[in-house]
Amino acid sequence: EKASASIHRFPLIPIRGIPLMNYIAQNWDSIWAFCPDPSDLLIATYPKAGTTWTQEIVDLLLHNGDAEACRRAPTPVRSPFLEIFSPPPIPSGLDFLNKMPPPRVIKTHLPFQLVPLGFWENKCKTIYVARNAKDNMVSYFHFDCMNLTQPEPGPWEGYIHKFMRGELSWGSWYDHVKGYWAEREKRNILYLFYEDMKENPRREVVRIMKYLDLSLSDDVIDRIVELTSFKKMKENPMANYTFIPTPVFDQSISAFMRKGEVGDWMNHFTAEQSKMFDEDYEKQMKEANIPFRTNI
Ligand code: A3P
Repeated sequence: EKASASIHRFPLIPIRGIPLMNYIAQNWDSIWAFCPDPSDLLIATYPKAGTTWTQEIVDLLLHNGDAEACRRAPTPVRSPFLEIFSPPPIPSGLDFLNKMPPPRVIKTHLPFQLVPLGFWENKCKTIYVARNAKDNMVSYFHFDCMNLTQPEPGPWEGYIHKFMRGELSWGSWYDHVKGYWAEREKRNILYLFYEDMKENPRREVVRIMKYLDLSLSDDVIDRIVELTSFKKMKENPMANYTFIPTPVFDQSISAFMRKGEVGDWMNHFTAEQSKMFDEDYEKQMKEANIPFRTNI
């Protein structure tokens, strides 16, 4: 009752032109001032691109595939969400980080230009995960229906236009994926694709392992692939966000672990919407040359 009273679907507030949730915008100065340790790892994504999946893979890699160790706490306690602020007394991402000794695995949805500069000054390893625009948007739409801290998504047709105009929390998908792409070589960012992870999860787990300078046995790698399957994570109470109370995430509307597929956009876009979206996409993504795939 009390929680639902304070968790309105507040309007977003822009910070340097990027619309953010009001609690984040109100605490922006302390977020921007955060300085990581050089040993910290950043996992950056546009919302709904496969963040939680990647966090689980990384935690298991760092714990040599020990499933029990990785059930020690829910995802955002094991791997804090840098910029998240909620109404008090709910702890912020910075509260969790400040109580945790490095090396930490830090999640962010901030676009490249809003990531606190200490991450680049300290040459922190960074994994970016990108998901094709259409599936990313479908996932975000369902998430906004059930996440009562986000603005009302409204009807699907209007949501497509908000997405194309970059009016959702954390701004434009187009600018987000392009921003990290442009910096990936200079900043040694491991740039991954959700579609590649679905197509061949083992290959991508090995890619992450190598980036982290780890070398685990084949058996352990196989176990990590199995433990981070959609089915296993959907059943894992420490990874499926059922630890967030219903007045915040109403999973009776849509499960956090909703579908976990490539190509679900085909069940949402009409032919006309798809054509309109693709024409705009060409304009927004021309010269970007990022190899996105909308099916595998
Ligand atoms: P869907 O809504 O398409 O099902 P994030 O963690 O960035 O919020 O992303 C959530 C999306 O990733 C959801 O997509 C969720 O189902 C999917 N996801 C989470 N874990 C996954 C896994 N192990 N395999 C595939 N997809 C996963």
